Amino acid sequence: MRFLITGGAGFLGSHLTDALLERGDEVTILDVASDLKVRHHLPHPRFRFVRDSILNREILDGLISWCDVVYHLAAVVGVEHYVGDPYQVLNVNVNGTQNVLTTAFKAHKKVVFSSSSEVYGRSAVVPFREDGDRVLGSTQIDRWCYSTSKAVGEHFCFAYQRLGLPVVVLRYFNVYGPRLDTMDVGRVVTIFLGQLMRGVPLTVIGTGEQTRCFTYVEDATRATVAAGVKKEAIGKIINVGSDEEVSVKQLAILMNRLFGSTSPVSFVSQESVYGPSYEDIPRRVPDIRRMRETLGVTPKVRLEEGLKLTIEWFRKNGQLR
Ligand SMILES: NC(=O)c1ccc[n+]([C@@H]2O[C@H](COP(=O)([O-])OP(=O)(O)OC[C@H]3O[C@@H](n4cnc5c(N)ncnc54)[C@H](O)[C@@H]3O)[C@@H](O)[C@H]2O)c1
Repeated sequence: MRFLITGGAGFLGSHLTDALLERGDEVTILDVASDLKVRHHLPHPRFRFVRDSILNREILDGLISWCDVVYHLAAVVGVEHYVGDPYQVLNVNVNGTQNVLTTAFKAHKKVVFSSSSEVYGRSAVVPFREDGDRVLGSTQIDRWCYSTSKAVGEHFCFAYQRLGLPVVVLRYFNVYGPRLDTMDVGRVVTIFLGQLMRGVPLTVIGTGEQTRCFTYVEDATRATVAAGVKKEAIGKIINVGSDEEVSVKQLAILMNRLFGSTSPVSFVSQESVYGPSYEDIPRRVPDIRRMRETLGVTPKVRLEEGLKLTIEWFRKNGQLR
């Protein structure tokens, strides 16, 4: 099959590319990134990289008419952007997604949209079920702009579905693994890794009691591939996650142990890191029955094993900022 992956030069897209090329598919990536996590595929005969933006409708027209399925992963991702540049988050994630869907609709091509567990906000009804409520704070708190941008993307998906477009919405839960982000920046796993490499204290933001279900990238990739090829997924929202709940403090202690370090764990206030425009999510746990039943995917890699693999990869390949 022929797949277009928007944002495919990023973390999830690079692993999805590995998996699709391995299956024998053709892959084209549309991404603005200069730091390509798919650099290793550039010579591959079934791989093509186009450096441009999803905000460019002409480019999208050509690439979407070429493919069978669009994986729409391009987005402005990361807490530093939600609180630092909400305009860019909304512009790319809302207007860019509308461009992708409008173009796919004209060409009648299936779209798999990468949404997020952030959509649930701080709902207290745990585990989060796909049909559960969303609970968000004020629009004056910038951190909600990303959650809102993904929810608007989902609404666009279902609006186009009513007009006949085949869509699948995947809500990812804290995916981690090799190539995640540059150490020191991005998401909690790479921030802790940077601190471990430097031998400085691990800084937990807030009390550390907030919980997450970290999902190893191989499991998330299997679910993503299945969503693109299985007919049963069409029209559905599907959580992509693991059910192994861990607090951020426990994660720090575990990573310390696996790294073989005795760095102390220190606590810093949310406000000192992100300013007043931030609120944390106390518990984030997915209901993964749909992932099992519709996609036929059960997470296989336990947190300890996934972290070992991640630490090993970053020790060999990672760069500090
Ligand atoms: N990794 C996770 O845990 C997670 C969780 C929830 C949702 N998601 C979603 O999955 C998708 C992929 O996430 P990721 O973790 O690989 O993030 P990532 O930041 O590594 O990848 C996103 C990619 O989008 C590209 N991009 C940004 N603006 C663009 C534009 N205008 N045109 C084309 N490309 C553009 C970036 O350059 C980047 O390569 C995103 O949509 C994200 O919101 C990921």
